[in-house]
Amino acid sequence: MRSLAERPESPVVGVAVPHESAALHVTGAALYTDDLVGRAPGVLHAWPVQAPHAHARVAMLRTPPALEVPGVVRVLTAADVPGINDAGIKGDEPLFPTEVMFYGHAVCWVLGETLEAARVGAERVEVEYAPLPSLLTLPEAIEAGSFQGSRLTLARGDAAAGLAGAAHRFGGEFEFGGQEHFYLETHASLAHVDEGGQVFVQSSTQHPTETQEIVAHVLGLHSHEVTVQCVRMGGGFGGKEMQPHGFAAVAALGAVLTGRPVRVRLTRTQDLTMTGKRHGFHASWEVGFDDDGHILALRATLTSDGGWSLDLSEPVLTRALCHIDNAYFVPDIEVHGRIARTNKTSQTAFRGFGGPQGMLVLEDILGRCAPVLGIDPAELRRRNFYAPGQTTPYGQPVRHAERLVAIWDVLHERAEVERRRREIDAFNAVHRDLKRALAMTPVKFGISFNLTAFNQAGALVHVYKDGSVLVNHGGTEMGQGLHTKMLQVAATALGVPLAFVRLAPTRTDKVPNTSATAASSSTDLNGGAVKDACEQIRGRLAEVAARRLSIHPDDVRFTAGKVTGIGFKDRDLTFAEVVRDAYLQRVPLFAAGFYRTEGLHWDPDRMQGEPFKYFAYGAAASEVEVDGFTGAYRFVRTDIVHDVGDSLSPLIDLGQIEGGFVQGAGWLTLEELVWDTSDGERRGRLATQAASTYKLPSFSEMPEELYVHLFEKATESGVVYGSKAVGEPPLMLAFSVREALRQAAGAFGPAGRTVELAGPATPEAVFWAVQAAREAGREAAERAAASSQARADEPTGPPAPVRG
Ligand code: MTE
Ligand code: MOS
Repeated sequence: MRSLAERPESPVVGVAVPHESAALHVTGAALYTDDLVGRAPGVLHAWPVQAPHAHARVAMLRTPPALEVPGVVRVLTAADVPGINDAGIKGDEPLFPTEVMFYGHAVCWVLGETLEAARVGAERVEVEYAPLPSLLTLPEAIEAGSFQGSRLTLARGDAAAGLAGAAHRFGGEFEFGGQEHFYLETHASLAHVDEGGQVFVQSSTQHPTETQEIVAHVLGLHSHEVTVQCVRMGGGFGGKEMQPHGFAAVAALGAVLTGRPVRVRLTRTQDLTMTGKRHGFHASWEVGFDDDGHILALRATLTSDGGWSLDLSEPVLTRALCHIDNAYFVPDIEVHGRIARTNKTSQTAFRGFGGPQGMLVLEDILGRCAPVLGIDPAELRRRNFYAPGQTTPYGQPVRHAERLVAIWDVLHERAEVERRRREIDAFNAVHRDLKRALAMTPVKFGISFNLTAFNQAGALVHVYKDGSVLVNHGGTEMGQGLHTKMLQVAATALGVPLAFVRLAPTRTDKVPNTSATAASSSTDLNGGAVKDACEQIRGRLAEVAARRLSIHPDDVRFTAGKVTGIGFKDRDLTFAEVVRDAYLQRVPLFAAGFYRTEGLHWDPDRMQGEPFKYFAYGAAASEVEVDGFTGAYRFVRTDIVHDVGDSLSPLIDLGQIEGGFVQGAGWLTLEELVWDTSDGERRGRLATQAASTYKLPSFSEMPEELYVHLFEKATESGVVYGSKAVGEPPLMLAFSVREALRQAAGAFGPAGRTVELAGPATPEAVFWAVQAAREAGREAAERAAASSQARADEPTGPPAPVRG
């Protein structure tokens, strides 16, 4: 058998094919969960009763008035739950709560013959609330000591000593916002009960197995009595990793109680007000540098805003801590992490899973400190890159660290950084109210689930008598192209054309005990499993073919639907012929594949180990232009060099890189979640609950020029066909945009001063950074005028050292 990474002759992996559903996506023929509703006769529609309080006790709940509405069939409450009344795995997410924990929390659900009947019924449900004090912001929660889950510490060396001995020492705070997933498909579930009480739930879930487990525990059933299927999702981005379970449970409970199919599909506003988002964070930090700008020590405390319940907040925080180093070696480090409990939606996984938040802290520090250190920010970054042989703060050697410099240099060249910097300087010299800047930032992102057990996957591959192939695997498709890659892997492993292979929707009764489609690992994991299954079948077919060709089975070759032997020119068999022979000889034509990532270890208590199989690397150079009157900006050009190993599917990878970058730029510049923090009636209400108030990046916010280059000769040994994960890492390439905005804002003032920039760096935030820079410029001019006056009178001493 070949190694995992080695590719056979004429592989189907590496070919630039379109997404397997591209034509269906653009013609509208692709089916999403809610499109199946029309196929469910007698379906009932569900509508939530959402509480208008940030925090309150449910003093009284009266459902009979709802039942008077024509078409209302039933109201689901806690009393209906036969199993466990909880939508999560931590036991802190009551499905039907007695205590409202955030504005918009659903206290019960109304089922109706039509959606309108259910909606009107929900209005008639009478609820009395006894309001309780609420905490909304991170500072409020920190002040009140409102935390949840475990506290984490990641440490190496002696940060205090490192800081004490540093020639340059800085400290600060940084609070930055979260992000709404804004997948195009809102959460959807459709449940019905089959014969014998078997519950079948179609769900827009990234984690069908966990949805199955939650539905089972809510209904008081075993896992084998519940099947969950996900046809595909219109985007998940982490928002459907843990959040779908409760909605699936509501649909399933309704189906069991009424004997009719039940559909839950959130409206956009319901989705925005009920489901979790990326965690915003607060960071306080101290950093020390030597005279050459090398980071000597970092001490920081990160507080994430977990919202009302834990769900994935602990693993998200773990990843934040494990990524605070980004691409940089920090010899002495001590980082504390804690999760605030606030009266907001339960913040959750979002592309990068805490990694972006951790990395943003250090990128912000470098961006702030570079001018005061008198070192160009790009040079400061490069100087601190990991070198081969160095290890991360959690003790993992940084494999392929040399790629950081290699990628940086290729980017520098391709983006024509030298020439453009000169042009930018010339531009800025003649424009008083418009400034440009170009910034480069790197990405290093660990691939694998931190929790070792999740790094396993299964697949089920069927070859039919005509030689056609059907693949099931444990991963879900959310637009990221996983299925396309799996088709390419199967076609490569079996040596058949892509058209021979089809994929079946992800279902828990085909491949059990799956991990979430997350952590960018789904291709590595499911690809390993699909390849394993295909190779078992190919091995059996090789024996059949070897007999026909009178050669040894090891010498049989499968390429493009033909079966031959080494050195054969004259004779070959078709794949279908060999399959047919195998069937007649009673050789099994299906196989279950399995894959576990080798060589991982993680000790969550000590926060030490080697949790990642490898690191994905990349770097971006972004140029922006800022208008000094308004803070409005343009993204002029972005160049990206990104390491995907040997790409399995170059078009898919390109899409992931472009999409990830733009989504990251949205988080860092445009997208601002605003909650009502007043003491008024709407305290706790999400004010940005529509696309009109929550600004997403669109075509007009794309960089005017965007160039993506895949890092070459990048084979990743130990991963399926030499590839690397791509789903999340490119999001963090967007740091380059934020740093360019900081530098452009700084260009309105004197050199050598720290520029603070809020997160997100909205035009308003950039405007204030420009104002501060200009103010500093005026002050410097006044000082200069005063001191030249003074100098005329008497000599002055040396300037005081600058402290950031
Ligand atoms: N790309 C699209 N188009 N839609 C998505 O929802 N999710 C991202 C990323 N890319 C997402 C996406 C996230 S959060 C992850 S973890 C990965 O895809 C998951 O898929 P993978 O493991 O197959 O990369
Ligand atoms: Mo992605 S945040 O791991 O679903």
